[in-house]
Amino acid sequence: MKKQILNRPALQKSSLLFIPALLFAFALWAQTPKQPPAEYKIPPEAAAKQNPIKPSAESLARGKKLYGYDCAMCHGKDGDGKGDMASDIKNVTDFTKSQALKNRTDGELFYIIRNGKGEDMPPEGDRAKDDDIWHLVNYVRSLEKK
Ligand code: HEC
Repeated sequence: MKKQILNRPALQKSSLLFIPALLFAFALWAQTPKQPPAEYKIPPEAAAKQNPIKPSAESLARGKKLYGYDCAMCHGKDGDGKGDMASDIKNVTDFTKSQALKNRTDGELFYIIRNGKGEDMPPEGDRAKDDDIWHLVNYVRSLEKK
């Protein structure tokens, strides 16, 4: 009982300190300029990389297999951008649209698949060999509906 009475002023004091700290934090937050996310840039040497693998039947078959494991849940089984996870994510690229990858070089697609893009397109990173990424590039290009 006695202890409680003794502790009370200490408690009040700490909450009095807490309020200005909170205001200060809010002021800092409010002043931080809300910057748009940095523009996505692909290094020119990566974009210029040539695809060493022809889109042969074997390459497309390998690409399709990998795509089924790592990409279809977002980009859709047929590349239409309507995979199971796509309902939670905006703007999953629809590979069946003829415009979707038109302005991309194979080197750019390789870079995007290896490194990911933005917050929602995850990188393959080191789990895929270079050849496998080229197979994926060939495969996503083949999904376009002419
Ligand atoms: C978790 C969901 C998700 C998975 C898994 C995923 N992607 Fe994506 N992908 C996205 C989203 C979202 C975008 C659009 C990103 C943007 O434009 O900012 C995208 C964009 C792309 C683009 C086009 C980018 C451009 O700017 O032209 C390519 C190519 C691509 N993905 C290939 C793949 C491949 C290949 C795989 C599998 C190895 C894959 N993605 C797995 C969500 C995903």
